[in-house]
Amino acid sequence: MKARGEQIAALTAYDYPMAKLLDEAGVPLLLVGDSVGMVVLGYPDTTHVTMAEMEHHVRAAARAHPRALLGADLPYRSYEEVDGAVANARQLIAAGAEYVKAEGGCEILPQVKAILAAGIPFCGHLGMLPQHVLEEGGYHIKGRLEAEHRKLLEDAKALAAAGAFAVVLELVTPPVAQEISAQLPIPAIGIGSGPGCDGQILVTHDLIGSFPWFTPRFVKPKANCAAEIKSAVAAWKSSLAAPGE
Ligand code: KIV
Repeated sequence: MKARGEQIAALTAYDYPMAKLLDEAGVPLLLVGDSVGMVVLGYPDTTHVTMAEMEHHVRAAARAHPRALLGADLPYRSYEEVDGAVANARQLIAAGAEYVKAEGGCEILPQVKAILAAGIPFCGHLGMLPQHVLEEGGYHIKGRLEAEHRKLLEDAKALAAAGAFAVVLELVTPPVAQEISAQLPIPAIGIGSGPGCDGQILVTHDLIGSFPWFTPRFVKPKANCAAEIKSAVAAWKSSLAAPGE
């Protein structure tokens, strides 16, 4: 798709019906993201998500047997050292994922190389790294400083050279995201990083308005599912006849 200049649409799916619906809608790349922790499990951030929770959701999404490539995030602290990273990546594949994604660049290169050597397709994730929210004290845009710009380029090139099939760029300044996309032989999929990437990924709940309590600034929801649910429930409630009526 990158070679053909076609934009790659990617979305998150954490269960059977959503994986099936998004597949039927023609989305070619799906992710059981660890964002499941926030928009489904009610955690304040992704650092609480466990391997067991990821496996449970990967199994559910994989039961849809999507034509789309279905991947899964390696959760927080599940890829700190090489052997654990490979074992956990294998577990996600056994649950039904076809690729794994992990956050970081050169600092996780030994883990990335070992995962790839085990025959598991790998997607990188650079820029703002949600699993680092506690150390970083929030979700900050990356690429404004020259040192960040240089490191992003170096990390992206290192992941591509290692054999990653794609890299997600989250909250990277649009000019830097565009430069990385242009320089990489593999697709760079942006999220909150401007229109210059090879594709875009979103958390589906943000796109369809089904998690109304927080929507990232860069998302323009295309539906308001939360309001639809509430009005369907209100209509059903008011249609209930009182006993004896
Ligand atoms: O967990 C997630 O949803 C992600 C985003 C990049 C979509 O990693």
